[in-house]
Amino acid sequence: MSAYRTLDDFDPKGKRVLLRADLNVPMAGGAVSDRTRLERLAPTITELADRGAKVLVASHFGRPKGARVPEMSLEPVAKELGAILGREVEFAPDCIGDAAMNASANLPDGGILVLENARYHAGEEANDPTFARALADLADVYVNDAFSAAHRAHASTEGVTYLLPSYAGRLMQAELEALADALGAPERPVLAVVGGAKIATKLDLLGNLISRVDHLAIGGGMANTFLAAMGVDVGKSLCEHEMAETAREILKRADEGGCEIILPSDVVIAPEFAEGAHTRVVPVDAVPDDQMILDIGPGSAAGLAARLAEMRTLVWNGPMGAFEVPPFDGGTVAVAQAAADATQRGGLLSVAGGGDTVAALNHAGVSARFSYVSTAGGAFLEWLEGKALPGVVALES
Ligand code: 3PG
Ligand code: MG
Repeated sequence: MSAYRTLDDFDPKGKRVLLRADLNVPMAGGAVSDRTRLERLAPTITELADRGAKVLVASHFGRPKGARVPEMSLEPVAKELGAILGREVEFAPDCIGDAAMNASANLPDGGILVLENARYHAGEEANDPTFARALADLADVYVNDAFSAAHRAHASTEGVTYLLPSYAGRLMQAELEALADALGAPERPVLAVVGGAKIATKLDLLGNLISRVDHLAIGGGMANTFLAAMGVDVGKSLCEHEMAETAREILKRADEGGCEIILPSDVVIAPEFAEGAHTRVVPVDAVPDDQMILDIGPGSAAGLAARLAEMRTLVWNGPMGAFEVPPFDGGTVAVAQAAADATQRGGLLSVAGGGDTVAALNHAGVSARFSYVSTAGGAFLEWLEGKALPGVVALES
């Protein structure tokens, strides 16, 4: 039983449905360069249209801060969405007012209309009730399918829910169910894998995870900070020496709470962070002064692979090394493959999210073999931090 209502709880036939989507997709040279979010959104749109709704898709795109920035128009994204759906998708040059009203009034049952970037209006981010009212005036019902924007309390994610009957879309539902399975009431043992450059940005995440998971593996630049805090010489590696006390505090709390922290036992080092740099694998306590750690070593990766075979649940956020530049992708790819293999053998529920993480899993070619890969970046992180997401809370009340 979920605390929110879904598309199963109303009849969309003939209704104007304001669908909050996350069309905030990566672009390159004026074209959509990663269609993942659009593909994952498609089932909700198709279902609503097939059930006879007039579908009005609202979203933000980039951060235009209340101005009409032409490069942040949703028009090219609407075209791509139409191609993915294989259906006609109309476009309205404004998300409120006459342009939106007229386009919506002309839409047949089953029709799909994308509204221009909501952040062209300052009222969107300000969660201005007047702007929320103008959005609500377009529709009879509101559906939120933008889990990846649910950490924002904006008019189109939060304010509008006070004005229209509100429901979770299929993608929102899938994200919430996957996260509940992974961290709400997970099958144990649970392993969290956390990577990324800095612990400074992930303190809340680490704090929440050590109270919830059985094992926490730390990789990426942030592992160096923990190693240094334990007295290991990390050479000229990226390291937040000023966070040493905080790192020791996290280790102490993990120990007291029965969460095992797993740090690299061997590492890939190089004199500089550059493609084709001369690399070596050394034990973690043998990093020379003129070298930097750029990835976990094969021994560490094999250790994590063995662990994964014993786990029931995996939550993953953040790469194990500087995976964008080969050969420093080796640790991330090896752990990703081991997680995918354990998932496919049937023993492991694997859930991953965060912008870098998804890019890393795609790079490793394993996304489709994970149990669930979130479309969210910041929202996934905030959820792992244990924070309430305003866009989700609004659907529950
Ligand atoms: C994202 O891409 O993570 C979401 O669309 C949120 O975008 P924002 O950080 O600009 O609010
Ligand atoms: Mg978003």
